Amino acid sequence: MIEAGRPWWRDAVVYEVYPRSFADSDGDGNGDLDGLRNRLPYLVDLGIDAVWIAPWYPSPFADGGYDVSDYRDIAPVFGTLDDADALIRDAHEHGIRVIIDLVANHTSEQHPWFQAALHSPPGSPERERYFFRDGLGEDGEQPPNNWISAFGGPAWARVAEPDGSSGQWYLHTFAPQQPDLNWRNDDVRDEFDAILRFWLDRGVDGVRVDAAPAMAKAPGLPDADYGPEPRFDTADWVDNPHWDVDDVHEIFRRWRGIADSYDGDRVFVSEAVVNGLERLRRYVRPGELHTTFNFEFLKTPWGAGLRTVIDETITALAPTGAPPTWVLSSHDETRLVTRYGRHRTGAAPLGGGAGARSDLELGTRRARAAALLMLALPGGAYIYQGEELGLPDVEDIPEDQLQDPIWARSGRTERGRDGCRVPLPWSGTAPPFGFGPADSAPWLPQPRSWTELTVAAQAADPTSMLSLYRRALRIRREVSGFHSDEFRWRDAPAGVLDFERADGVRCLVNLSPTALAVDAEVEVLVSSEPLHGGVLPTDVAVWLGPSRSAPGDGH
Ligand code: GLC
Repeated sequence: MIEAGRPWWRDAVVYEVYPRSFADSDGDGNGDLDGLRNRLPYLVDLGIDAVWIAPWYPSPFADGGYDVSDYRDIAPVFGTLDDADALIRDAHEHGIRVIIDLVANHTSEQHPWFQAALHSPPGSPERERYFFRDGLGEDGEQPPNNWISAFGGPAWARVAEPDGSSGQWYLHTFAPQQPDLNWRNDDVRDEFDAILRFWLDRGVDGVRVDAAPAMAKAPGLPDADYGPEPRFDTADWVDNPHWDVDDVHEIFRRWRGIADSYDGDRVFVSEAVVNGLERLRRYVRPGELHTTFNFEFLKTPWGAGLRTVIDETITALAPTGAPPTWVLSSHDETRLVTRYGRHRTGAAPLGGGAGARSDLELGTRRARAAALLMLALPGGAYIYQGEELGLPDVEDIPEDQLQDPIWARSGRTERGRDGCRVPLPWSGTAPPFGFGPADSAPWLPQPRSWTELTVAAQAADPTSMLSLYRRALRIRREVSGFHSDEFRWRDAPAGVLDFERADGVRCLVNLSPTALAVDAEVEVLVSSEPLHGGVLPTDVAVWLGPSRSAPGDGH
């Protein structure tokens, strides 16, 4: 039963577009908004409900566009504001909603506010919008406190004062090119109210809140107690003075008020990696954000532990009324077929674990099963571009072409996240694989071996990852059992996930080492591998369901 008035985002499948790597219409090696616009029919065929577009604003790209220098425009490399308007309009015509990415914890160092702060004296209103502090030590040569950056090293950088002398320090939770904004400052609050309205007025359907837990800092900026070895592991932090500080929720209540003043079910989704589901659920309390990514799911190794995290997520969020949102990968994570083919299958922070041996065949088999698991769960689901093609992480990008700031900040020991950001292969047998015009060179090199992974190759193959996603998404849309919050575990042998949604729709995932017999009487809607003789092998998932008028061919 579909409830009347049920907001679209409660069950939405959202496709993450990393615009620089999606499709390049003008041949400069970078994806762009017209590239995305031209490919909207592909997204319609795929069967998703919405796109989340990673930052598209003017930016020096010190952190892939998460360093914004103008929040009310589009990066020239991606197009113009008119292109964005046309994209939003066309997406809506195709029945696809648009979620944008708002980076509000920090600006780019090139943002006019930060430039003004650099050219203003200590204590000035311009510096009050950020965190400028005097250093410790006789000459202020030590950072103001012990806080560390997500990308390695201290979270403080020292500036030269306008007269050339060594001066104050400013806070940067991420790269030094990303100075943190001071959210206790009225200019900051008012400016972001206006930015939100700017985009909501242009018709966007939702906003992803980047690095949400970073946006409030404990008053007085006290030292953090990291334990013996300072590591940026936000999932482990309790009472940290620069992450998940309670005051952050005031900002989101303010923002919710703005979204609620618009028609059409606008949605917020927060990126919040915090210590456990109890802390996470605060982000989606009534009057705050509508949804939040569920990173517990992505960190959980492939195996029976997935049942626990599914249970805990549903239970933890239930009192808030917010639906779960299931995420297995993103532009920050190792691609699924690579991760699931490794010995350690849970996600490590910021794409860590690069270089570990991976059995891609096994990883692909599991990724196929994981897709059916994720898409059968109640709530929303996020698919990162290229996961529907089963792309592996690219682990041999030449060092001189690596662009993630993690590479330099870690002293060239961590390769960072470029391996999951390689431009998509659309067609053909050699790079750029239809990503851009034939003679163009994508901003990150594509492996020659991607010939069989192109959209064109997979569209023609009913057994491909793309065909599996298309089939599953079509069924999810057509079968009403998926359009409700109903969810119930069935009794199952150890290591087998077996749950039912409304109207008898059922999902089984075999995570045990032994094959499982499946009820021969029940209709198979889709399975991640062909089922022979009614047997569900290890690492295979199946949807069983009520009879449908057009069930397709099962696998
Ligand atoms: C988020 C983004 C990531 C970025 C960081 C800083 O985690 O997903 O890509 O580096 O915020 O803005």
